[in-house]
Amino acid sequence: MTRFSLLPVFLLGSVAVATSSQDDFQTKCSHFYDKINLPHVQVNFAKYIPGGTNLTLVDNPPSCEASSQEVSVDLCRVAMAVNTSSTSQITLEAWFPREYNGRFLSTGNGGLSGCIPYSDLAYTAGFGFATVGANNGHNGTSGKPFFHHPEVLKDFAYRSIHTGVVIGKELTNMFYDEGFNKSYYLGCSTGGRQGWKSVQKYPNDFDGVIAGSPAINFANLISWSSHFYPITGPPTSEKFLTAAEWSLVHDEILRQCDTIDGAKDDIIEDPDLCLPIMETLLCSPNAKNTTNCLSSAQVQTVQQVLSPLNGVNGSLLYRRMQPGSENYAAEIMYTGELFPYSLDWFRYVVYNDPSWDGNFTVQDAEAALAQNPYNIQTWDGDLTPFRKTGGKVLHYHGMMDQLISSEDSKWYYSHVAETMKLPPQDLDEFYRFFTVSGMAHCGDGNGAYGIGQGSSTYASSDPESNVLMAMVKWVEEGIPPETIRGAKFEDGVGTPVEYWRKHCRWPRRNVFKGPGNYTDENSWECV
Ligand SMILES: *[C@@H]1O[C@H](CO)[C@@H](O)[C@H](O)[C@H]1NC(C)=O
Ligand SMILES: *[C@@H]1O[C@H](CO)[C@@H](O)[C@H](O)[C@H]1NC(C)=O
Ligand SMILES: *[C@@H]1O[C@H](CO)[C@@H](O)[C@H](O)[C@H]1NC(C)=O
Ligand SMILES: *[C@@H]1O[C@H](CO)[C@@H](O)[C@H](O)[C@H]1NC(C)=O
Ligand SMILES: *[C@@H]1O[C@H](CO)[C@@H](O)[C@H](O)[C@H]1NC(C)=O
Ligand SMILES: *[C@@H]1O[C@H](CO)[C@@H](O)[C@H](O)[C@H]1NC(C)=O
Ligand SMILES: *[C@@H]1O[C@H](CO)[C@@H](O)[C@H](O)[C@H]1NC(C)=O
Ligand SMILES: *[C@@H]1O[C@H](CO)[C@@H](O)[C@H](O)[C@H]1NC(C)=O
Repeated sequence: MTRFSLLPVFLLGSVAVATSSQDDFQTKCSHFYDKINLPHVQVNFAKYIPGGTNLTLVDNPPSCEASSQEVSVDLCRVAMAVNTSSTSQITLEAWFPREYNGRFLSTGNGGLSGCIPYSDLAYTAGFGFATVGANNGHNGTSGKPFFHHPEVLKDFAYRSIHTGVVIGKELTNMFYDEGFNKSYYLGCSTGGRQGWKSVQKYPNDFDGVIAGSPAINFANLISWSSHFYPITGPPTSEKFLTAAEWSLVHDEILRQCDTIDGAKDDIIEDPDLCLPIMETLLCSPNAKNTTNCLSSAQVQTVQQVLSPLNGVNGSLLYRRMQPGSENYAAEIMYTGELFPYSLDWFRYVVYNDPSWDGNFTVQDAEAALAQNPYNIQTWDGDLTPFRKTGGKVLHYHGMMDQLISSEDSKWYYSHVAETMKLPPQDLDEFYRFFTVSGMAHCGDGNGAYGIGQGSSTYASSDPESNVLMAMVKWVEEGIPPETIRGAKFEDGVGTPVEYWRKHCRWPRRNVFKGPGNYTDENSWECV
């Protein structure tokens, strides 16, 4: 029997057989409350949740936008508050499934939140992992709790995850007589940064870390997110492009770059090779109808958006937005106002001034970088301690990410290679980076983004097609993933899979070799 045979439990969503009396698992859960006596930990409740429950999340802040969560398997839900200092605390949940696979796992957070990742708790507990998830030290998605609260900021920068891991491991050992053997981390975006923070700062926390679309180079990411507003101006500006105009830009970028990888499929496999010439969209001087062309001010906007952000002295702060993300980015980055998380960060962290006006300049970028509170940058290039523990890290990034440019991940990979003086074949031993074409920010997109990092990208529990199971196989059987297979859904997760594609391990890139259709995964090759 392989360990993976437990996995279909998640799919079946097994419902506990109703019994009038409590069974041993239920009794253990209800008595667990009395057993926990850890410093700084206040247990709120330990409750048995039968599989098939649609959990109502009464305490979840409205801005977290999750008032319910489906739970597919029987589990013991433990909710607690953990003091991280005299003026800060995290809210932490530990979910202990009845069908336990002997593994501990921590989930991560997103954005500036502030939100317990219930969907991920349910996803990984559904696979049998003893799972923890925390609120990152504050409630809700706003950055306001950081204002004059350095301890809350510290939780956000690194302490929430680490605290959850320390407490979570103790509780797992208390709850299950057999304890646990291996520990894992699964997160994307801010969660990706938290995964990298663990690798860099707490190399013993995890045996396997899956870090997606990471918000690393964090201070510069905040500045990069800010710099689109001065480029586009407000919607009234002559430099501004409407969503329809960005769609025009996207189509032109595809026209120039889609077939570089050999396939006309509306997906750019490696945006590095895409250096679009935008003057092709200029309106001719006597054009009467300018619906399908751009003014020269607008063309300049597009060119600037697709250029890196440099500091006052010309040093590179953040690489360019990767071409291909235009339609998604238009909705959130090019809206004609400052990116809300960036506004919060400058107001409540960098300047401690809620009236800061949002007129971002590169001087503000310098201030944010110089501050780098609690090394939130998460850019350390020397992973020697993690490597020495035998840890493995699987890094992935969507190639049409509209919120965190995938070029930043490529930059970090180079930074690690150069710092450690290790070529890719040596990094491969413990650090593998996968570029996922057709994936927007942590999921969604128009390509084969279904890699199983969470329920919103789940298509299969096969290690070949599921990053979490791939990591388990790498850690426990020593077999690393060569590619990550993704599903292209007909219309979002849960709908039929239209085709599969194997995503390459950087620095390889995917090339369509034929014969046949781009939908045939075997017609592609990583070169
Ligand atoms: C947590 O800190 C608060 C405020 O300092 C204190 O009142 C409370 O007793 C602490 N809880 C635990 C479990 O240590
Ligand atoms: C769970 O409950 C919420 C809120 O009551 C509801 O919107 C949602 O559809 C329910 N989910 C299922 C699968 O029943
Ligand atoms: C840990 O590994 C050992 C050896 O393979 C195994 O006997 C034991 O059951 C495992 N423990 C858990 C909690 O899975
Ligand atoms: C977050 O919300 C929970 C649930 O309402 C509450 O118990 C906790 O004190 C809040 N945490 C903070 C830091 O405000
Ligand atoms: C301009 O061109 C667009 C697209 O071809 C078309 O839909 C629109 O009706 C035209 N507008 C005018 C005023 O002719
Ligand atoms: C240029 O700016 C970067 C980022 O602020 C800084 O690290 C670097 O030391 C500066 N270099 C010079 C020559 O001033
Ligand atoms: C930026 O500065 C201008 C001029 O001082 C001001 O009108 C505007 O409200 C400021 N804020 C933003 C977000 O543009
Ligand atoms: C390839 O597959 C797509 C999607 O199924 C289809 O629309 C297209 O016509 C196919 N192309 C060829 C050349 O068979």
